[in-house]
Amino acid sequence: MEQTFLMVKPDGVQRNLIGEIVSRFEKKGFQLAGAKLMTISRELAENHYAEHKERPFFGDLVNFITSGPVFAMVWQGENVIATARNMMGKTNPGEAAPGTIRGDFAVQVSNNVIHGSDSPESAEREIGLFFHAEELVQYEKAGSSWI
Ligand code: TYD
Ligand code: MG
Repeated sequence: MEQTFLMVKPDGVQRNLIGEIVSRFEKKGFQLAGAKLMTISRELAENHYAEHKERPFFGDLVNFITSGPVFAMVWQGENVIATARNMMGKTNPGEAAPGTIRGDFAVQVSNNVIHGSDSPESAEREIGLFFHAEELVQYEKAGSSWI
């Protein structure tokens, strides 16, 4: 089953949005495979966002993502990578449609509440960066055939 890495960023944790965000993915019909509240080291932040290291916002991005606890998650389900990106909305919350997480809860691109893997390759890489295999739980959920 396809898996993705999602993370409530420090602004989302400070604004008490963990429950709201978890609830949206639960109600959609995806299954939680792992989750933890954690503080990201600079090394992990620079690795996670390595694709952006030449961009002008990279320093601010690393400072922000290490500024307080994040809620890291692995979710699974059919087409979960692309569907979660749709549920998050565009990177710039000003362009994110109402009804999406960024569209409903954020204003600035630098504080856009949630991270989500953008491809199967990113998902595999990011899950490996944030979780040990034994932290992920495989289980049958009663009623999943109704989704
Ligand atoms: P990116 O991977 O382009 O967006 P997404 O999170 O939607 O995959 O960028 C990573 C993060 O970097 C983004 O969530 C917020 C931050 N960022 C800025 O602060 N300024 C910018 O101009 C961009 C493009 C991103
Ligand atoms: Mg990205």
